[in-house]
Amino acid sequence: MGWLSDRLNSSIGKKIIMATTGLLLILFLIIHLANNLLLFLGPEIFNENVARLEAIKPLVRVIELVLLLIFVFHIYNALKLYFENKKAKPDKYAINANSENSTFYSRFMTISGIIILIFLVLHLATFWREFNFGIHPSGESHPFYAIIQNAFANPIISIFYLAAMIILGFHLNHAFQSAFQTFGWRHKKYTPLVEKLGTLIALIMTIGFGSIPVFFYLASLGGN
Ligand code: HEM
Repeated sequence: MGWLSDRLNSSIGKKIIMATTGLLLILFLIIHLANNLLLFLGPEIFNENVARLEAIKPLVRVIELVLLLIFVFHIYNALKLYFENKKAKPDKYAINANSENSTFYSRFMTISGIIILIFLVLHLATFWREFNFGIHPSGESHPFYAIIQNAFANPIISIFYLAAMIILGFHLNHAFQSAFQTFGWRHKKYTPLVEKLGTLIALIMTIGFGSIPVFFYLASLGGN
């Protein structure tokens, strides 16, 4: 097992863990966005979908645990790589354009990652806690849609979500093509396509998730 931990602890090992966990997180985001876009179809359809997931709670719990492990691996490796990079390439030695570029991206990805982590902690502290442990008035059996509707009627929460989704978009835009590079999948013809696909995914995430707080905030102004 020594060789495996040596490999995983090497710089490229850590990058492969980052890329693999990152792509799995993008997969989660696609599923999460699809579930959340049901909000636009109205309370009945959204609540029905949540109730369907409630019915398979043990499986959902297992998926959440796997997801947590993926997040932990992703963040732990990101921070380790960042500090290793910093140690190996102190700013004063960053003399050529390439290393300046990689220093910029490494710093940008770390800072945007930390902001997304702060978003995630606040997000789970509100929605996840409320969905799983919220105490709701008796008789209100499916208050899920209303929880989200009420949260985004608050302009501070909505603006915070929108800002976080823009940062998430930039993070994903670089992350996607970077994961492909880590795997060594580089090709004159396909790399520009991968870059475009990364940008498309980033835009879908920012616009898709971002449209939800905007929609509910505007609807709350109209008295809905
Ligand atoms: C407008 C945007 C979003 C809305 C309305 C939203 C809504 C929700 C809701 C209602 C839950 C609780 C689900 C449950 O426990 O049954 C949840 C959980 C979660 N959200 Fe979000 N979410 C949004 C964006 C995001 C983003 C951008 C991320 C990641 C960066 C994220 C990550 C998670 C995670 C990890 C969970 C816990 C896993 C789960 O229960 O599915 N969410 N979200």
